[in-house]
This record gives sequence, structure tokens and C-alpha cells, in this order.
Amino acid sequence: REAKLQLVHRHIRAFPDFPKKGILFRDICPILKDPAALTAVTDLFEEHVRKNHPQVDLIVGLDARGFLFGPLLAQRLGVGFVLVRKKGKLPGPTLSVLYDLEYGKAEAEIQDDSVAPGQKILLIDDLLATGGTLYAACELMKKQQAEILGCMVIIELKELNGIEKVKPHSLFSLIQY
Ligand code: PRP
Repeated sequence: REAKLQLVHRHIRAFPDFPKKGILFRDICPILKDPAALTAVTDLFEEHVRKNHPQVDLIVGLDARGFLFGPLLAQRLGVGFVLVRKKGKLPGPTLSVLYDLEYGKAEAEIQDDSVAPGQKILLIDDLLATGGTLYAACELMKKQQAEILGCMVIIELKELNGIEKVKPHSLFSLIQY
């Protein structure tokens, strides 16, 4: 487990002042470029889910980088994957929630038939900053009467205290800054 975490850690880059001055952007692209690092991420998430949430029905991924890691995990677990998108991208009847970002505002949306009442879901994204995005996704899941088992991210930015926004749901992160 330690070796896998170190491998993931080595494949995260930091870019100062992106996308705005004062923001240190943590970039996960090198993970995707390295099959061993991507496998390590999927392994670590899979281990966590099998141990703590074996009853999971669906993995719910957040736009856009949750889409890169979520389907790999869902396939490993033999469960489905659902998208929470930025508003205006999904066809058919949808539900949406407005939220604040670390840099700006956004609206998250799901198809209203994506999750059935009572289904046990886990949310996944690349990074937790202020927690606004995961909070909005949790609100959408509540509207769907899903049972939220927890949230998972590769990176948690501790100083922004996003974990408070995610409460009472649990947060699992691979790397903390
Ligand atoms: C980033 C990141 C998370 C979100 C975290 O996405 O991938 O989804 O911000 O921030 P928060 O905890 O403060 O809400 P971004 O909004 O840049 O969108 P993108 O993934 O579509 O580029």
C-alpha cells in the first residue's frame, strides 16, 4: 500500500497561479500517462471499497476528472457508473444544484433516472478543495433518495477544510496536502 501511495504521489504535479492567481493547481495528468500509477490509484480505491463499502451499488463520478477514475473502479467492482455533469450537457429530464467553487460558481446536474431510491452509492472525484462540488453532488444524491456511503478523492487540500462541507458523509483520500 505504501509503495502504491508513493507511486501516485510522484505522479502529481503542482502549477502555481492556475487557473487564477493564488491557486496552486494540483495536476493528475501524469497519473493517466503512467499505466502503473493509474493501476495503483484504482487498486487503492478498490481496496478501500471492498473493505469498507462492499455493499455499494453504483459509483458516481464528478465532472470532469471523476470520469477518468470512476469507471475504472466501477468495472473492477462489477457495479455501474453514473455521471454528475456541469449543467447543460445531459439529455432528458434532469435535476440540478447550484454550488460555489474555489474559483467561481457552477451548477451540477444528473439525469433523473440515474439512481434509484435506496441505491447505495459512492462519489468519486480527483480532488477535494472547498468541498462545494462534492457537496452539490451529495445534494443531488439526496434528491434521488440514494444512500450515500461516502466520498473518495485522490487529493485532499486540507487547508481549505472541504471535509466539513462533505459531512456527515465520510471522506477517503489517497494523498493530502
Ligand atoms: C476541480 C476538481 C473538483 C473540484 C474541487 O474541478 O476536479 O471537481 O474542482 O473543488 P471544490 O472542492 O472547491 O468544489 P473543476 O471545477 O476545475 O472542473 P473540471 O474537473 O471540469 O476541470
